[in-house]
Formats: sequence, C-alpha cells, structure tokens
Amino acid sequence: MGAEPAGRPRRGDRPAIAAWGRAKAGNGQVVLVSGEPGLGKSRIPAALAERLHAEPYIRLRYFCSPYHQDSALYPFIDQLGRAAGFARDDPPAAKLEKLEAVLARAAPPDEDVAFLADLLSLPGSERHPLPNLSPQRKKRTLEALNRQLEGLARQQPVVMHFEAPHWIDPTSRELLDLIVEHVRSLPVLLIMTYRPEFQPPWTGQPQVTMLALNRLDRRDRTALVAQIAGGKALPDEVVAQIVDRTDGVPLFVEELTKNVLESGVPALGIPTTLHDSLMARLDRLGSVRRVAQIGAAIGREFFHALSRAVSRLPEDELHTALGRLVASELVFQRGTPPDAVYAFKHALVQDTAHGSLLRSSRQQLHAQIAEAFETHSPELIDGQPELFAQHYAEAGLAEKSATYRGKAGRRSVARSAMTEAAAQFQMGLDQLALLSDDPERQRQKLEFWSALAAVLNAVKGFAAAETGQAYDRARELWEQLASPSEFLQIPQWGVSLSPEPRRTRPGAAPRRGCAASERRAQRFRRACSGSPLLRCNPDVDRQVCFIPPTSGGSACAL
Ligand SMILES: Nc1ncnc2c1ncn2[C@@H]1O[C@H](COP(=O)(O)OP(=O)(O)OP(=O)(O)O)[C@@H](O)[C@H]1O
Ligand SMILES: [Mg+2]
Repeated sequence: MGAEPAGRPRRGDRPAIAAWGRAKAGNGQVVLVSGEPGLGKSRIPAALAERLHAEPYIRLRYFCSPYHQDSALYPFIDQLGRAAGFARDDPPAAKLEKLEAVLARAAPPDEDVAFLADLLSLPGSERHPLPNLSPQRKKRTLEALNRQLEGLARQQPVVMHFEAPHWIDPTSRELLDLIVEHVRSLPVLLIMTYRPEFQPPWTGQPQVTMLALNRLDRRDRTALVAQIAGGKALPDEVVAQIVDRTDGVPLFVEELTKNVLESGVPALGIPTTLHDSLMARLDRLGSVRRVAQIGAAIGREFFHALSRAVSRLPEDELHTALGRLVASELVFQRGTPPDAVYAFKHALVQDTAHGSLLRSSRQQLHAQIAEAFETHSPELIDGQPELFAQHYAEAGLAEKSATYRGKAGRRSVARSAMTEAAAQFQMGLDQLALLSDDPERQRQKLEFWSALAAVLNAVKGFAAAETGQAYDRARELWEQLASPSEFLQIPQWGVSLSPEPRRTRPGAAPRRGCAASERRAQRFRRACSGSPLLRCNPDVDRQVCFIPPTSGGSACAL
C-alpha cells in the first residue's frame, strides 16, 4: 500500500478509529474486515497508521501468503524476521543477536527466547538453551508468541494488522484463536483483512466487530477518479466510462484512471476488465515488463539481488528498469539497491504479470529462481523448503519438488505441525504421481505414504478412513518392493489384534480376545512412546509399522 494522506476518514475508517479508542483503554478489540479483492480492506489499517503517526504505539504486521498456507506459523516467523531487521547475508549468530534484541523489549523469559529462536531456525545459544520438550514444542512456541504480545502491550498499546487470513496455515490459525481471546484484557487492536471465502470463527464475541466492505457507489467512484486524476481534468464521457466499467472496485477505478492518464483513451477503447487494464499498463512498460514478470514469479515481494541473478541484466540496466516499475506505482520499493526489496502494489498486479508469461518461459524462470535461491540464500533450504518445492513444481521439475516437499513435511513433523506436514507429504505425492513409475520412484512413494499415514494418524485419528487408506497404500508398495528392511516391520503379532473397541458395532457382543489384544496393542503403543504408528488390521494376522529410513530407525522420531 502507498502512503495515505491522513485526511477525512473514508469508509471503514470510523469503526477502526472507534475500536482503537476502546483498545487503548485496555479493552482489547478485534475488527474483522471482509470484502472482495481490491475493495480497500488493507487501506483501513494503513490509513489508521497514518492517523496515529504522532501517537506512541506499537504496530505489528503479519502477512499470510498463498505460497505459505502449509508452512506452520509463517506470518509470525516473517514478522519476527522483519522486526529484528535480518539482512539476507547475516550469519545465524548475528540473526540470533538481533532476535534477542528485538524480543528483549517485551522482557520474555529465557525459555521463550529459545523457543522463538528455534522457530526461526536459529541455533540455540548458551544463554537460552532449548529445553528438550519435543512433544510440547508447538504448545510452548504458541505460548511464547502470546507472551511476547502481552509483553509488548505492557509497554505501549499495540495495533496488529493480520493480512489475508484466507491463506492462513493451521498452526497460525490456532494461535489466532488464543490471541483473539487474550486481547480482551490487553490494550491491543487486532485488525484482520480477508476475502469473503474465509469464515472467521470468532464472530459473536463481545470484543469482535465485523466490517463487510461493499463496492463503491457511483458518486464515490466519480470522486475517486477525480482524486486520482489530481488537477488533470478528464472529459466527462471518459469519467462516465470509467465509472461504468469498474463496477465499484476501487483498485479497478484506480488502475483504469491511471491507464487513461498515462496513454489517453486507447484506440480500442477503455479496457473492460481489471486484468486487461493492468495488462495494458504492463505492456506500455516495454522491456521493463520482463523485470516485472521475473519479480512476479519470485513472489509478492522480491529482492534486488535475486532479480539481478535471475534476469542476468547488468546492474545499471536492472536499476533503470526497476526504477521505471516503481515510478509506475505498480510496485513499491523499500530500501536502496543492492539491498532494496520490491513489493507489488496488489496481489492482482502480481498475478497479472505472472499470468502474462508463456508456459515454457514461466517454467524456465521458476527453475532459475529456485537455483538462485539455492545459491544466494542457502539457509532457506532448511528454513523454508516449501519455497523450493513450489518453484520446482512451477518449473515442471517434479522430482526436485517432491524432494523438497519431503523435507518440508519432516520439518513440520519436528515442530509438531501435523496438519501442515500432512499437506506437504500429500503435495510431494502429487508431484511423484507426475513421474514415470520405477522401483526407485516406488521407494520414494513408500516413504511419503508411510510418513503421511503416521501423520494422519496423529491428526485425524486411527479410525479415520484417510489414515487407513494411507497405511494400505504404504503396505501395498512395501510388498511390491519385496519388503525392504529399512522400513521396520512389526511381524506376526501372535494373536490377531481386534479392531479398537469403539469400532465394533454398537450393541454387538464383545469379541473373544478383544480385551487381551487391546491391552497388547496398548502395550505396543506405550513401547513406541505413544507414537501413533501402529495400524491394527482385524483381517490380517500381523501389523506393519512403517518408518521412513530418514528417521534413523526410531519409531517415535518420524
Ligand atoms: N475508498 C478508497 N479511496 C481511495 N482508494 C482506495 C479506496 N479503497 C481502496 N483504494 C485503493 O484501492 C487499492 C486496493 O485496495 P486494497 O489493497 O486495500 O484492497 P484489498 O481489499 O485489501 O484487496 P486484497 O483482498 O487483494 O487484499 C489500493 O491501491 C487502495 O489505495
Ligand atoms: Mg489487502
């Protein structure tokens, strides 16, 4: 978003200002702003920030992204990294120091610092060793993030803007549940801006206000055209066409007006869709369009150094191209090259630039981006493997993508983010399905299915159909591959285990041996330290417990 003049409040501003008044007094508030893309949701917290520029308060911004819907706590990790001021080439020790400095403002206990450093994939320090609490890691991390917010709110009132929770990952969603409850007693205003497909579960709570943005009426559209045109008078019939065609979506009004201002009324008439209007503006940028496309393939935000590596343009040419892109206001810039970061003004601008690439050129670009990340930001290989998986998938390099999905899945398991882990393993399997089948591929599939089965067991439970299907698929592959020994088999259970008691028909007489075999199953589960890997199959006289070789053979460490 660009800078907003702190002028007359516009639609949506008043409820936010009122909620801030209540929040500052200690009655924390949550404002849920919903609406279609481009309606001006994100403008509301940006305008509030402009209005509060002279007030002492703490502003926290969280961005969900379509690329990170299965990365546990991504918006919080991203926020801490920005707040700490991480530079791309900071070594881990420097990052840790910066993180400790930014966290110190909330005076957190040492253990919280250790959990948050771990969340950011930073090595533990001697000062803040990570307690050995793997099963509770997620819970403790969520508590640490919640305490951090409380600590900050004790210093100064806080405005949290949570952007685009329609793309939220499941663990962040859990944390938001806690935060929405927690802010009631804190001087915190939490504003969430989301598209209508997101159904927030927090409505009806006393601290929560809903704000559904509608399209602009004709009078407001006309006023917006005049405001964007500045002193430049546009012919009445052109204004009328813009007002008619833009359907009351402010982003479209803004883009179409700029389009007309830049080029006059095009020979083929005024574009009738936002997409066409954006395309026309990108086309007019000529060779700069390529740089916009590279940026769009990298993401909503892109670094100068990375666009240099991918574009292979000489520095001065790149500099000029990015300068023109920024001047067009399709992209905003933070910092100065070579450390500059660029952000597309709006997700739809990025989508349009990305969509304007031909398939082959898009695939090539994504492969170059993944390779450039591997060279320039190798720390992301462990920190954000899903990023590579995404780029390699877009590049059509399914095997590499699957390898990174496996890494992302195991990383999520290690963080007890099981829902995200299941999604990562499933996406890895989707990639493997694109490749021709041979024994090596089957082995990879076996790894993914067995890991997925174990994770589904944790998320959906032992009796869920998906869990059973995943184990069945793993078993099938294991048998096809002549029972490879790296995958531990728990053979011949002696007496057949019955299904879990709750799975028997209601009212049916208890099966003979059921209680004894259930006790045995429980003993087995205990022996696996509560690991949910065991699959009972009443029809087969043995159980198979699949463990991916990468786990080092431990049934509990997946
Ligand atoms: N009432 C308004 N007056 C002037 N400009 C506006 C108004 N509302 C929105 N805009 C402009 O329209 C553009 C899109 O707005 P914004 O980014 O807030 O949309 P959004 O609803 O957050 O979209 P998304 O769902 O994609 O996040 C911005 O450039 C913003 O400045
Ligand atoms: Mg927005």
